[in-house]
Amino acid sequence: MNTNNGSNRLATRRHFIKTSSAALIGGAFAANLSFPGKSFAENSDTLKIGLIGCGGRGSGAASQALMADKNVVLTAMGDAFDNRLQSSLKNLKGSAEFGDRVKVTPETSFVGFDAYQKVIDSGVDVVLLATPPGFRPYHLKAAVAAGKHVFCEKPMATDAPGLRVAMEAAQEAKKKKLSLVSGFCWRYNLAERAGFQQVLDGNVGLVRAVYSTYNTGTLWSFPRKPEWTEMEYQMRNWYYFTWLSGDHLVEQACHSIDKMSWAMNDVPPVRATAHAGRQVRTGPEFGHIYDHFAIVYEYANGSKGFLFTRQQDNCSQDNTDTILGTKGIARILGFAGKPEITGEKNWKYEGPRPDMYQIEHNELFKSIREGAAKNDGDWMLQSTRLALLGRMAAYTGKTIKWEESLSSQENLMPERLAWDAPVVVPTVAMPGKTPFI
Ligand SMILES: NC(=O)c1ccc[n+]([C@@H]2O[C@H](COP(=O)([O-])OP(=O)(O)OC[C@H]3O[C@@H](n4cnc5c(N)ncnc54)[C@H](O)[C@@H]3O)[C@@H](O)[C@H]2O)c1
Repeated sequence: MNTNNGSNRLATRRHFIKTSSAALIGGAFAANLSFPGKSFAENSDTLKIGLIGCGGRGSGAASQALMADKNVVLTAMGDAFDNRLQSSLKNLKGSAEFGDRVKVTPETSFVGFDAYQKVIDSGVDVVLLATPPGFRPYHLKAAVAAGKHVFCEKPMATDAPGLRVAMEAAQEAKKKKLSLVSGFCWRYNLAERAGFQQVLDGNVGLVRAVYSTYNTGTLWSFPRKPEWTEMEYQMRNWYYFTWLSGDHLVEQACHSIDKMSWAMNDVPPVRATAHAGRQVRTGPEFGHIYDHFAIVYEYANGSKGFLFTRQQDNCSQDNTDTILGTKGIARILGFAGKPEITGEKNWKYEGPRPDMYQIEHNELFKSIREGAAKNDGDWMLQSTRLALLGRMAAYTGKTIKWEESLSSQENLMPERLAWDAPVVVPTVAMPGKTPFI
């Protein structure tokens, strides 16, 4: 499909969707937003979705999209690997709740590095981007260029050149009035929303420091097979290669960085300094990423953000955020409990805690139905940039300024994407030796 045809078709559909859903606003669909799965809205137009990246999260996102709105059908899927696509398709089709709305055929199942473009060009209205994040900027750019609404998993880039591409795409989505919803899921959690609103309303006073942890164990890895090229090996083990994942700081602890930024009202810091390395996860099966980071973000008003993340087995685990203000302390406990404040004003969240992943999609499809584009671009890219800033400071051992995190010229993406393309086997970054590029 060329872009013009896509835009015209979309404009027509958008008009139809807006008209047909007008009566619903504030009705059953809106009421259902925070309590997914109870009933579906009566939408009279079908939205087609395409999934790009059919792994764990992509399959989850497709389920949530199908649960969000009963007139959504999944019509196309794309993955680098056929086995990943087929197992996801089988699981989705097998769902008693929405399996009948999985309309993916062999003709709309696309495999390989160009699968994303084929999904985008297959006539879908919404794309779900859930590949490893190194590809995200380029998939986002293509989706927006073709006039598609997007659900975009976090993080949004693994280097500054990619981030710049994603920033342009997010601006373009705004101009085109396309919805762009982020996979930084805590911003969609009702408990966290209430907790951070307390902070933003000044109920802990001026925020002087945020202390966030993302301390977990280690993850999966797939042993090398003799028939795999180096490209296939890295793609199968994408988590351990910075061009694909961004390192575990950018790939996973970005959730905590996003919450730190939220507490700081998304005001960017001035600079960051880090202590980090690779101590336990040292074998070649772990590629070249680190296994721990401690980062200090410094803000213009003297406040600081402290981010600690570790992926080492048999160590204590924690994933919480503590916000220290001049009038109190907020504890945001994530999966561990209800947000609370102690200090001049005590407070504890006592509301419902529906599935935040479902809310992301409920709000995405609501925005499309209402013709009221929702664009998470600014903050989702700022949180990604904060994570990149932390990695740059960690790998180089230098204090890196906020502006440098965007102007960096280090492009991690291989020049050619193909199974036989040469791909660098990177060495482990060494603070004090690895240069800032
Ligand atoms: N928001 C959250 O809580 C959350 C949770 C888990 C994962 N995620 C994010 O979702 C993304 C995917 O993570 P996952 O756990 O599903 O990983 P995964 O390995 O299970 O899935 C990734 C899929 O993308 C495919 N893929 C790789 N390169 C591709 C390409 N160029 N084109 C098409 N397909 C490609 C892989 O083959 C795989 O099937 C990551 O960015 C991750 O950070 C977010």
